[in-house]
Amino acid sequence: MPLTHTITVRDRATGTTHILEVPENRYILHSAEHQGSELPFSCRNGACTTCAVRVISGEIHQPEAIGLSPELRKQGYALLCVSYARSDLEVETQDEDEVYELQFGRFFAKGRVRAGFPLDED
Ligand code: FES
Repeated sequence: MPLTHTITVRDRATGTTHILEVPENRYILHSAEHQGSELPFSCRNGACTTCAVRVISGEIHQPEAIGLSPELRKQGYALLCVSYARSDLEVETQDEDEVYELQFGRFFAKGRVRAGFPLDED
């Protein structure tokens, strides 16, 4: 039997807290679904960041999280669809598009400034 960890997931969008028992060798999102917990996801392969969470405490292993920059991983973000627990964990879901904007928002921000100025000034 693989080692099992207790994962507490706070879903900020719904205000619910999920307590899960997750074996070390299973993806956390997959285990959550099997335990009847509905968490946000889309691609299921570590690319889209819909399932991103911030780790409050504990250790997570996510070698396949290609959608997450090394900087954001260092800041404690993780993708539950491709994450394994390495200890008991407490995580919270992101605000909608939080991780996407942290990674790409600055490029769009520059674009917006250029598009709105000086054309909108008459
Ligand atoms: S569901 Fe797309 S990165 Fe996890």
